[in-house]
Amino acid sequence: MVGVLRNVILVGFMGAGKSTVGRLLASRLSCCFVETDAMITAREGRSIPEIFTDRGEPYFRRLEAEVLEALAEKRDHVIATGGGFPCGPGVMDRLLQLGTVVWLAADFNAAYARANRAGGRPMLAGRSAEDAAALYRARQDSYRRAHLAIDTTHLTVDAVVGRIVRHLRERERAARLTRPPAEGSAHADLSTGVGEGREGDG
Ligand code: S3P
Repeated sequence: MVGVLRNVILVGFMGAGKSTVGRLLASRLSCCFVETDAMITAREGRSIPEIFTDRGEPYFRRLEAEVLEALAEKRDHVIATGGGFPCGPGVMDRLLQLGTVVWLAADFNAAYARANRAGGRPMLAGRSAEDAAALYRARQDSYRRAHLAIDTTHLTVDAVVGRIVRHLRERERAARLTRPPAEGSAHADLSTGVGEGREGDG
């Protein structure tokens, strides 16, 4: 359970590890995992590369805006966003209201290599490494507004998840301490509300 913090939202450049980290984090927190790209492909009945080829990037960004509205219904979810998702006007403001936003901030070369290896990234197709690096730089200002930033470049997935869980516990504890105790309860409940699994990075 994510408890009073509602959702955990992962942002970051392509290849930063949002899907891998998100899946493990959701299992550690015993909550649902969802990806904005998967929500889009389910609605459209075609893959992300097909959407870009058939309808172009502006259409894809409109679909992302619709998905943002749908995210408002989510509670206790780990949500992995597409790399460009938080960069539209007003989107980061909205995400910051919907849960704890975590930026997986991999170094460009590592993220770029990983994204190219996995393939299926229309934003990288036909773009030089210099252009991709410019896109990476242009997005930093949006990403850096997250509640928490973790450089994943030299960390294992387990270690990244451990750091997020620890941060959630701290935020949850702070939120509970500032909340007035529920009527009729003599003591505030200081339990963390997040998974008690072992943290990978100690
Ligand atoms: C995009 C990133 C992709 C996907 C789409 C556009 C981007 O998601 O949403 O291809 O603009 O950076 P990942 O970050 O999961 O690769």
